[in-house]
Amino acid sequence: RFEGITMAPPDPILGVSEAFKADNHELKLNLGVGAYRTEELEPYVLDVVKKADKLLLEKGENREYLPIEGLAAFNKVTADLLFGADNPVIKQQRVATVQGLSGTGSLRLAAALIERYFPGGEVLISSPTWGNHKNIFNDAKVPWSEYRYYDPKTVGLDFEGMMADIKAAPEGSFILLHGCAHNPTGIDPTPEQWEIIADVIQEKNHIPFFDIAYQGFASGSLGADAASVRMFVARGMEVIAAQSYSKNLGLYAERIGAINVVCSSPDAAARVKSQLKRIARPMYSNPPVHGARIVANIVGDAALFKEWNAEMEMMAGRIKNVRDKLFDSLSSEDKSGKDWSFVLKQIGMFSFTGLNKAQCDNMTTKWHIYMTKDGRISLAGLSLAKCEYLADAIIDSYHN
Ligand code: LMR
Repeated sequence: RFEGITMAPPDPILGVSEAFKADNHELKLNLGVGAYRTEELEPYVLDVVKKADKLLLEKGENREYLPIEGLAAFNKVTADLLFGADNPVIKQQRVATVQGLSGTGSLRLAAALIERYFPGGEVLISSPTWGNHKNIFNDAKVPWSEYRYYDPKTVGLDFEGMMADIKAAPEGSFILLHGCAHNPTGIDPTPEQWEIIADVIQEKNHIPFFDIAYQGFASGSLGADAASVRMFVARGMEVIAAQSYSKNLGLYAERIGAINVVCSSPDAAARVKSQLKRIARPMYSNPPVHGARIVANIVGDAALFKEWNAEMEMMAGRIKNVRDKLFDSLSSEDKSGKDWSFVLKQIGMFSFTGLNKAQCDNMTTKWHIYMTKDGRISLAGLSLAKCEYLADAIIDSYHN
């Protein structure tokens, strides 16, 4: 009876890691998944995470079920971190926070909430966006359409297109925004542009829906990277925000994140929270505890929090260094006069190279460089030592 099931295609991002593993070439490079590597291209466990782990072991914590909404101490610190601990919405208990299975799981809960309580409600997503967004809304049966975002001519933001599309969307749509370090383009609106985006969203009665998976990775500062979310909240708007600790704490496999819904009253927040719990219970019952304890311990302890910030700055700094070196290598080795400065303008873990699918295929088949077919490369998976090799591959793929 399973004979009729067809083969699913490989995942556009995680499938790249599978293909990379199967390649034995010595120069192979995995720039597909957005996962931080050391200069030696090894996975990195933050020292502060190792410390928190040790403390947890010493405490001998039990393995009882968490409540459906997750670990209370985690939910508190995660909302504080995103909105700022002294934000009035927290004091007024207007935020419904539920621990989620990292970014994806948290987005999925919000998508289910939209499907259930906003029938026909549409989500607008940026073109392009992170490969999994469309899957999440498709599976949750939430209709979506795209707003213009990336302009290939300027290799920058198509701000006018973005505004026109958000204006044209049916009133009360959910506008999915990347809080910082847009994935895959690495292009963020300026603070002035964010204000205009908020004006239009407010005028149209839309609901801003943030995916913030890189807090701390764009600028190296947790507060600065949450500025977009906080600005919308400060305007008194209702806001949805999904968080992830995969990147900024390197807790990829712990599946730790949260969904926050900022409501107009504490009553509404309590009701929204109760419904998020109702959605989570038949989906996965209750979330895993270990990552939540790690985050709660680090964010809730002044000394560990300081250490975390220093390590995040170090990681963001290493990515910045390879970005600079890649730009230098591209500029000095490419004799065509092409302007590569967009590499420097982009921020966060990624660079959006503008390579088309055939050129991406060339990167992989000829150069053994693994990347997503949208032209994105993860600079977090690049070392200074490999920049020249990568630049050669990009130049070859562009011009041939
Ligand atoms: C990415 O964009 O590479 C990451 O967010 C990993 C993932 O889950 O796709």
